[in-house]
Amino acid sequence: MFSPLPSAKAMVPFVSVDNMMRLVHHLGIETVLAELTDTIEADFRRWESFDKTPRVASHSRDGVIELMPTSDGRVYSFKYVNGHPKNTAEGLQTVTAFGLLAEVSTGYPALLTEMTILTALRTAATSAMAARHLAPKGARTMAMIGNGAQAEFQALAMKAVCGIDTIRLYDIDPRATEKAARNLDGSGLKILSCRSAQEAIEGAEIVTTCTADKQFATILTDNMVGAGVHINAIGGDCPGKTELHRDILQRSDVFVEYPPQTRIEGEIQQMAPDFPVTELWKVVTGEAQGRRDGRQITLFDSVGFAIEDFSALRYVRARLPGTDFYQNLDMIADPDDPRDLFGMLLRAKENEETI
Ligand SMILES: NC(=O)c1ccc[n+]([C@@H]2O[C@H](COP(=O)([O-])OP(=O)(O)OC[C@H]3O[C@@H](n4cnc5c(N)ncnc54)[C@H](O)[C@@H]3O)[C@@H](O)[C@H]2O)c1
Repeated sequence: MFSPLPSAKAMVPFVSVDNMMRLVHHLGIETVLAELTDTIEADFRRWESFDKTPRVASHSRDGVIELMPTSDGRVYSFKYVNGHPKNTAEGLQTVTAFGLLAEVSTGYPALLTEMTILTALRTAATSAMAARHLAPKGARTMAMIGNGAQAEFQALAMKAVCGIDTIRLYDIDPRATEKAARNLDGSGLKILSCRSAQEAIEGAEIVTTCTADKQFATILTDNMVGAGVHINAIGGDCPGKTELHRDILQRSDVFVEYPPQTRIEGEIQQMAPDFPVTELWKVVTGEAQGRRDGRQITLFDSVGFAIEDFSALRYVRARLPGTDFYQNLDMIADPDDPRDLFGMLLRAKENEETI
């Protein structure tokens, strides 16, 4: 005799795109962004307890597909993510992702979830965490250059965590700026649409660059960047894909997630291998200095690191109990006798034939 129904051990909670959106609206997007920022910061504080490796990237002419694993010894996670700047012209996203958490003690998956939305949330939360330590005190205005899929998330995280009240938008495609302005209407942010990157950065204490182009682009040149600003550079995150002129890096104090990955993928790929950088986790723990004074240019050379995804996954997992924002997937084969996997397969056939 056998039960045709999968056992509890076979089931893995799965958060679909629809359920992720329901969860975010249930909690409130600014609450999610603020709580995610704190969750990521808590994991940056225990940085040394994680397994770390640069992500495994498979490059092609059109884009990149990456796997991002990490573990804190109790829980393991990985994210699958792509980056294809040409995709939007074909009606597809530049970045899509999904990810998984597993128990290290058994190797069994504990959560499978969409991560396209979750990546936008965690990237924005990481930006806000960095800005909380590096942006000039009392910063109220952010320039947002590149108004694509990530843009509104970045703006709202800076509002929720850092108290930004004004966003100056610019994109080479005015339709992207119109879209972002429309989406942020009613958010409480003052929105200004600009006609050039130069115009967008006027009066901004924080400048976020979040463009997508598979080349060495120059979104900001040296003469555009005045003393005292914080630059949050999101879009340069692949070999051969940067946004800032190298002279800006020479004048800035550069903060990074994981140097072995950022030296391959970040803005600093343009610099010598020993170009000085500060690891963000050391600023968070107080081991290294963040912003020193009002004239310093700070630059967060963001590429996205696996620990941020780990934090985002464990945040979602903690919010699921008692909700219906997930489905159970029959994902793990669970024979009554763990060594009788083949017998389970045979009995399934018998069952098919008797129905
Ligand atoms: N650092 C991270 O953790 C992280 C996470 C997610 C995405 N990203 C990167 O951020 C970038 C943006 O992602 P997205 O999902 O918003 O992409 P997207 O394609 O939706 O939007 C990119 C926008 O940049 C604009 N753009 C391109 N060149 C420009 C230029 N020269 N000046 C002004 N605007 C320009 C495009 O018109 C488009 O609207 C991508 O490069 C992506 O790889 C980084």
